[in-house]
Amino acid sequence: MVNRKNNLAPGSPRVFQAPGRVNIIGEHTDYNDGLVLPVNLSLYTRVLASVRDDNVIRVTSNHFRRTESFRIDNIAPSPSPVWVDYVKGIVAELQSNGLSIRGADLLIDGDIPIGGGLSSSASLELAIGKALLGIEGSTMDARKLARICQRAEKKYAGVSCGIMDQQSIACGREGQAMLLDCQSMETKFVKIPTDLSLIVINSGIKHNLPESGYNDRSEECRTAAGLLQGADPSIRSLRDASITLVNKEKRRLGDLLYRRAHHVVTEIERTLAAFVALSNQNIELLGSLISASHASLRDDFEVSCQEMDALVEIADCCEGVYGTRMVGAGFGGCALSIVDASAAEPVIEEISSSYRNLIGNKPWIHRVKPAKAAMEVAGL
Ligand code: GLA
Repeated sequence: MVNRKNNLAPGSPRVFQAPGRVNIIGEHTDYNDGLVLPVNLSLYTRVLASVRDDNVIRVTSNHFRRTESFRIDNIAPSPSPVWVDYVKGIVAELQSNGLSIRGADLLIDGDIPIGGGLSSSASLELAIGKALLGIEGSTMDARKLARICQRAEKKYAGVSCGIMDQQSIACGREGQAMLLDCQSMETKFVKIPTDLSLIVINSGIKHNLPESGYNDRSEECRTAAGLLQGADPSIRSLRDASITLVNKEKRRLGDLLYRRAHHVVTEIERTLAAFVALSNQNIELLGSLISASHASLRDDFEVSCQEMDALVEIADCCEGVYGTRMVGAGFGGCALSIVDASAAEPVIEEISSSYRNLIGNKPWIHRVKPAKAAMEVAGL
């Protein structure tokens, strides 16, 4: 439902921000209708936006040091998407949802590492979505905006992504993790204890979702679900499969699809167990589930890489670390360590110096706070 308030005169700039997200556990489960447990990060994409009196969107990215312009009445998906296609996608999807968009000047800045598994793409989508709605004087239900952003990413960036990132960034809460059931879309929130630190470490290895194996993995999961449906017609996605069925149908699946299904089904179980552990403040158990998730992503789902495995091993050897794993789509990007807050500083030092010895550069490491959803912030 789109509500319209007063329109602004052309030229008055306003600032909108959307956080990144880090997923505590539940990786590559969202597009299988499974469970995920993300938190929003205190790292942001910010958009300075003002309306124009024509039908051109002029957008500048400080990160890419580029300005691009396009007309809002002539948008089509590009055969090889670049950053501005994310913006075009949001404009086009808002329009096809009945919102009339006028021209705008948009300046994008932010501090989320791009392609690092911290959802820089969905953060950009939500920041742009909020900005375009805001300068039109319109509001929209956060879940609906999340769906629009997901559709834009699928159509205009060519990524068959799930709903986790957009939903977390649109609806997440400060200080809490969100258990999202991607089948029913039900959410439950759990507090992150203040004596727990979330430390995000960039492996320095970059991935590019459309060109990586992300779309291949989602296709493999669909094929595995289809084969399991041959054994049990009630199965619509891997969410509906039990581990007993997956093990029983190992020959039908073959080694590769068996391992893909094994990851998804066990990861969904781990995610629910992690939510319960966090609710009971059983951080030892949460840590071991996080470590088991990494092993499954590495061995069964094959979305880690050597550098990431080395980084996880380094972090897990530090005193005060409960568990570490790769986060996001994988193939490089960031790891998340959950750490006793009193040990956070020495842990950061130790990881930084050991990983530096391995790759030659000081890694980007941040202690992040669970942050609020996308919103307008005070102007200039
Ligand atoms: C990317 C996608 C998400 C999700 C993760 C893996 O971030 O955008 O939808 O599939 O990878 O869990």
